[in-house]
Amino acid sequence: MSWGILNQLQRQKEKFRKKNNAGYAVTRSEIIIVEKLRITGGKPLKGEVTICGAKNAAICILPALLLIDGSCRIENLPNISDVNRYIEVLKSLGLKITEERPGEIYVENHGITTTKCSFETCSKMRASYYLLGALLGRYKSAEVPLPGGCNFGSRPIDQHIKGFEALNAQVTLAQGVIKASTKKLIGTSIYLDIVSVGATINMILASVLAEGTTTIENAAKEPHIVDLANFLNTMGANIKGAGTDTIKIVGVKSLPGNATYSIIPDQIEAGTFMIAAAATGGDVTVKNCIPKHLDSISAKLVEMGATVQEMGDAVRVKCDKRLKKVNIKTMPYPGFPTDMHPQMAVLLSLANGMSILTESIWDNRFQYVEELKKFGAQIRIEGRSALIEGVKNLTGSPVNCTDLRAGAAMIIAGLAARGTTDIYRIEYVDRGYENVEEKFRKLGAKIERISE
Ligand code: EPU
Repeated sequence: MSWGILNQLQRQKEKFRKKNNAGYAVTRSEIIIVEKLRITGGKPLKGEVTICGAKNAAICILPALLLIDGSCRIENLPNISDVNRYIEVLKSLGLKITEERPGEIYVENHGITTTKCSFETCSKMRASYYLLGALLGRYKSAEVPLPGGCNFGSRPIDQHIKGFEALNAQVTLAQGVIKASTKKLIGTSIYLDIVSVGATINMILASVLAEGTTTIENAAKEPHIVDLANFLNTMGANIKGAGTDTIKIVGVKSLPGNATYSIIPDQIEAGTFMIAAAATGGDVTVKNCIPKHLDSISAKLVEMGATVQEMGDAVRVKCDKRLKKVNIKTMPYPGFPTDMHPQMAVLLSLANGMSILTESIWDNRFQYVEELKKFGAQIRIEGRSALIEGVKNLTGSPVNCTDLRAGAAMIIAGLAARGTTDIYRIEYVDRGYENVEEKFRKLGAKIERISE
């Protein structure tokens, strides 16, 4: 491609960017294909949707494969970019991974070729820090670039490092790479100062093969922590108490594997469809979910006036009137999940009255607010709270995704709004939602992916 065409393309994109307030760039070495979602909203969603395997369970079970001395099969893996990227990282370390069917992989670990992870892939994923716990746990050494992922302000990993050191590892950080090594990991008692999902998972990964017993106090209780423990126990580990705030891990000599494990359904994907049903005044049955994991979301929907019906492994959400305002504070599980915060903000934007939505996990999760205002939402930020004055209708607009869950919120807003919405930066959405437009289309939505 010549510079002339590149310049012309650059000028066109600049004009387009200014017009639509969308951001991207083109360089001499790469032409960027911009994908967007176009939604014509205002139509109630109706029908059934099937939830896939949980992203946050998959991305801690995948690194746990490094701990296995043999082979195993994983089922119900979601086809999302975070998972596909993780599989590439594991292959680059020397694991043999074969996709047997969509969502099903066969993994053989007969020893790896390196404990150094590449910057290229790790810097794009938050969950790359689980490679530290898994590599250290099995191979006593790990080099992992600082993690990437969604930007919610500062995302420290001091609790992970404190835990590794308590287990007798040495950890250093230089030139953006974390290096951890040990002669022998020795079980101990670790008290987490903050309820951290990632630190709890890393401590489990690092201690499964350690000598002696490790106790994690003030542990996170999210469903995917229980799923990781169940997976590791199926492969030969001895973990008790996952799902409570004290987890006890008795170190074993090896994890023989030789078993099949199916990942739990995605709590946040299910919650996203529940909110979308309510926001569009629809009637949607969310199938293949665990209703218990959705209790905090169902409770708020009911408080607002929607009908939520639990049916075995499904939840039906029905809404035929304007919902009432409600106050919400995000909390660690079993509280209202921070990963449902932006989606809920859309529903509150349409409710009758002023709701207060308080974020207690991340210090900067409000970046979506400016985008949501483009639909006509009335939101004011005060400290860690969004004060949301509900409006009767939202109006379609060109918007950007600012992170994964913010992207889901933009889709819900587009579906609920009158008129047309173009959503840019949808690579964020593809990180965590499988076939998102197809699933919404089956519920009657007018949504298409357009490449430019
Ligand atoms: N924190 C520390 N020090 C640490 C670790 C965490 O101060 O060493 C703080 C964080 O800054 C935050 C709080 O503790 O304020 C909780 O962080 P946590 O460690 O629980 O979050 P995480 O493990 O980095 C995971 C999910 C997030 C989800 C949070 C909370 C992954 C890869 N990420 O992050 O999911 O928001 O738990 O549930 O599993 C998403 O899926 O969209 C997503 C961002």
